[in-house]
Amino acid sequence: MADVDTKPPSGLDGGVELRRWLDAHRSRGAMLFAEEFGMWHVFRHAEAKKVLSDPATFSNDTLIGDSPEMDVIRGLLQYDIGMMDPPKHRTMRSFVNQAFTPRVTAQLEPQIAAITSRLLSSTGPDLVAGLTDPLPVTVIASLLGVPDQDMLHSLVDALFSGGTTEERMSLSPSEQVALLTYVKGKVDETHSYLVSLCRSRRKSPAPGLLNSLIESEVDGVRLSDDEIAGFARALLVAGHVTTKLLLGNCLLYLGSHPSIQADLRADPSGIPAAVEEIFRLRPPLVRVQRLARSDVSFEGVTISKDQSVSVWIAAANRDPLVFSAPDEYRPGRSAGHLGFGHGIHFCVGAPLTRLETRVALRAVLERFPSYTVDSVEFHDYSELIGPGRLVIA
Ligand code: HEM
Repeated sequence: MADVDTKPPSGLDGGVELRRWLDAHRSRGAMLFAEEFGMWHVFRHAEAKKVLSDPATFSNDTLIGDSPEMDVIRGLLQYDIGMMDPPKHRTMRSFVNQAFTPRVTAQLEPQIAAITSRLLSSTGPDLVAGLTDPLPVTVIASLLGVPDQDMLHSLVDALFSGGTTEERMSLSPSEQVALLTYVKGKVDETHSYLVSLCRSRRKSPAPGLLNSLIESEVDGVRLSDDEIAGFARALLVAGHVTTKLLLGNCLLYLGSHPSIQADLRADPSGIPAAVEEIFRLRPPLVRVQRLARSDVSFEGVTISKDQSVSVWIAAANRDPLVFSAPDEYRPGRSAGHLGFGHGIHFCVGAPLTRLETRVALRAVLERFPSYTVDSVEFHDYSELIGPGRLVIA
């Protein structure tokens, strides 16, 4: 194992090196143990699904250890459904499923189209600044029924501040605490705003997910204002950058493949399948983490209690055992990719993301008779890869 590079490359080149690293490891086997990080890596589709289907063995509550940084992170993620295990997760998910239905998402289509059209009418050549960055937060604010969108925008900016992964990793402990304290300040400010909004919405209801969550009831129990505010924050954390990067990846792909772009402009009914295939090839969230709850035998290895397990969506999505010619763009494949996860934590916002990306892509194709990519810079935030700047010509 000494000659095996166990450290994944950064995503600053758009994931080119990372894809090479993942391909090499996946062809060697399903599992890899990176001793220096105490972490298992899972590369193949079948094994990835097994880990994600087994919350009794693999926990989503991945925060262990005691340090000032960890205390702040725990506070930030206190109400995040994505960090919960059953039975708490099951209860919270039942509330969410009652309130955030596919019908609620479908009703947002005219608003998404209007927001997209407004953004496109004033965008400059950088489609990230003009479209992909502002769109998802604005849509989530509409979904929730939150009037102060600036508050949500500034929270998102704070959450993703601090530079690239490499830069953040090289911060001294005191610089890390200062960064986290700044982020926590923004989170607390937004949380207080959302809690007081919930209070006033209990007295005078208004349309939106906040009120649906206020009204939803599971086994005779209702959510507290803190829980609703925490869930609303979790939607922003989980739904903003991911959607921004998926839309950016789609725009980048079409800008680099003029014939696919022309086909979709001529026949927009192909857009949903195109989005799905670009999503498979370039998932914005390239991996998810789990923590072993106990010592467990898994696929011929022993994973010890409290060891991390890194499930590589980007590797599973190109597993040749599941996808023939996995690196080729072939829209309409029957096998499902893992871009939205799998199992009990499957993405709550999947229907919204799909709708938003389709509406926005169609609008871009109508707005620009044809476009090419002039320059691109990639966002690099741990496991998120996609354009942070995309200038078109
Ligand atoms: C391209 C866009 C998106 C991608 C790639 C994505 C990806 C994912 C993935 C992979 C998971 C599973 C995580 C795990 O297994 O630990 C997940 C969960 C989740 N996503 Fe998304 N997501 C996207 C958009 C959204 C949007 C727009 C929202 C909300 C507005 C959202 C809300 C959530 C929530 C709340 C969870 C946690 C669900 C649970 O634990 O039960 N996501 N997402």
